[in-house]
Amino acid sequence: MVGAVSPSSKYLMQKMLSNINFKTATVIVEFGPGTGVFTRETVQRMRPDCLLLVFELNDSFYTKLREEFKHDSRIIIRNKSAEHISSVLKELNKYQADAVISSLPLANFQSDLIQTILQHCKQVLSEKGKFIQFQYSLTSKKYLQQYFNSVQINFTARNIPPAFIYACSNATKIS
Ligand SMILES: C[S@@+](CC[C@H](N)C(=O)[O-])C[C@H]1O[C@@H](n2cnc3c(N)ncnc32)[C@H](O)[C@@H]1O
Repeated sequence: MVGAVSPSSKYLMQKMLSNINFKTATVIVEFGPGTGVFTRETVQRMRPDCLLLVFELNDSFYTKLREEFKHDSRIIIRNKSAEHISSVLKELNKYQADAVISSLPLANFQSDLIQTILQHCKQVLSEKGKFIQFQYSLTSKKYLQQYFNSVQINFTARNIPPAFIYACSNATKIS
């Protein structure tokens, strides 16, 4: 379920978050925060009126993050799987997300689950919204290209293991 040997480095975190416009984002979703490397920095950078909705399946990570962020009303953490993104946003009267930051170990997931998650993300992303995912290989590139018009790939060697960063959007392709 965790799919990693250690938490992500600050270099990977910087590259992931550089895809988000924190000046304009009012709804950000995070999948699989683990120990909270991306969560902590997102909270630092986001606007005072921005909501951060977090999905973490692992009970221990979930409990620790709930405790750490209990005094910040901008953060909502759910012990649920990522595919519930649309229904949970709806419960919160939010219908779009400006960014989805995903650390999900897609290489370990069944194809059906990847497709369900990507379908929901595509539906909830705002016009300029981004789905941002890292992976230690390019095995899930085909799925991302199936769902998003634009898939930009970046790389950092400064992580254990080195990682690829996908920034995906519904923006129309310019050919
Ligand atoms: C590779 S770890 C990433 C942790 C952290 N974001 C980092 O980069 O260091 C993946 C995380 O995804 C969580 N996870 C796995 N499947 C999930 C799912 N279906 N929904 C939500 N979280 C999930 C795991 O519990 C784990 O915390």
